Amino acid sequence: MQIAVVGATGAVGQEMCSILAQRRVPADCLRLLASARSAGTRVPYAGTDLTVRELTKDALAGVDFALFSAGAETTRAFAKPAAANGTVVIDNSSAFRMDSDVPLVIPEVNPQDAHQHHGLIANPNCSTIIMAVAVWPMHRVNPVRRIIVSTYQAVSGAGAAAMQELRDQTRRVLDGQPVEPKVLPHQSAFNVFSHDSPIDESGYNTEERKMVNETHKMFHDNTIRITATCVRVPVLRAHSESINLTFDQPIRAQKVRDILEAAPGVRVVDDRAGNCFPMSIDAAGQDEVLVGRIRQDRSDPSGCSIALFVCGDQLRKGAALNAIQILNLLTS
Ligand SMILES: NC(=O)c1ccc[n+]([C@@H]2O[C@H](COP(=O)([O-])OP(=O)(O)OC[C@H]3O[C@@H](n4cnc5c(N)ncnc54)[C@H](OP(=O)(O)O)[C@@H]3O)[C@@H](O)[C@H]2O)c1
Repeated sequence: MQIAVVGATGAVGQEMCSILAQRRVPADCLRLLASARSAGTRVPYAGTDLTVRELTKDALAGVDFALFSAGAETTRAFAKPAAANGTVVIDNSSAFRMDSDVPLVIPEVNPQDAHQHHGLIANPNCSTIIMAVAVWPMHRVNPVRRIIVSTYQAVSGAGAAAMQELRDQTRRVLDGQPVEPKVLPHQSAFNVFSHDSPIDESGYNTEERKMVNETHKMFHDNTIRITATCVRVPVLRAHSESINLTFDQPIRAQKVRDILEAAPGVRVVDDRAGNCFPMSIDAAGQDEVLVGRIRQDRSDPSGCSIALFVCGDQLRKGAALNAIQILNLLTS
């Protein structure tokens, strides 16, 4: 089996390589592809070095599965021709996520959809994956009618260059030097700002609209009322989210905890006595979405509302790991 990692030099691509190495995928099964800028770069892989090649149509010939994480423009140019040549593309960009003939899949949520593909499967938005992994197991028991979510998103969501920018700016601010943002639109060190995606006439930015539309698609339920506020925080990796849920029927916090403790891909971290709850530094590098602060929302007298706090590594479960889990679904 030949697997291509497209965007292998990027934040998500590097994470994919590290997960594939952990899963003992042999080096001779892998093709690492990126832009012409990186062609010839040597990348360490499982005790050896692999050479990055330029992404071209020919470079994908004979590839069985291509894991794309090179931006929507690259996906639009290369994914459909590759699929037409027999490669199954699993894509991390937003290029085709909402297309009706492209399954949008989280293996813990809608694995059955993966098998309906026509050569192209989309990996959902990272904030959406982290929320959906936590919400889905409750939704199956007691349908969720409304979601209010506020995110605290790591800079790595904007790629490897944004991570470097946060490191550099942090040093400069501590040294009393001025900073000049180049990758993200505002200073990321010691700052919090509204998500850097375009805002439409509704007042919502693209990230917020993805959380609504992609959740509807994967849950196969467009009636769930969802509102999101997406924000960047000066964290290198792992997104956090405050989630308020209103269910169809009254539900107790203990019931929610029981459901989440048995849920795949979730780890409950909810130590009230120790005041220890999900944190980005604990979620970073982990496969599970951490869930805590599970409590009854006392502002809703119907007893139907629950508040939670979640953290998940968006480079891993929000992107690379989810894509590799989809690959496993198709090959096992
Ligand atoms: N970061 C996240 O948390 C996250 C989560 C979910 C989804 N995603 C999506 O995943 C994709 C990659 O994100 P990232 O954060 O890994 O970005 P990144 O760190 O900026 O990496 C981008 C990668 O794409 C490659 N690339 C750019 N233009 C290319 C071209 N014309 N042909 C071939 N390769 C090209 C780059 O290669 P060079 O090094 O040669 O430039 C690099 O390997 C984006 O679509 C993003 O929306 C990211």
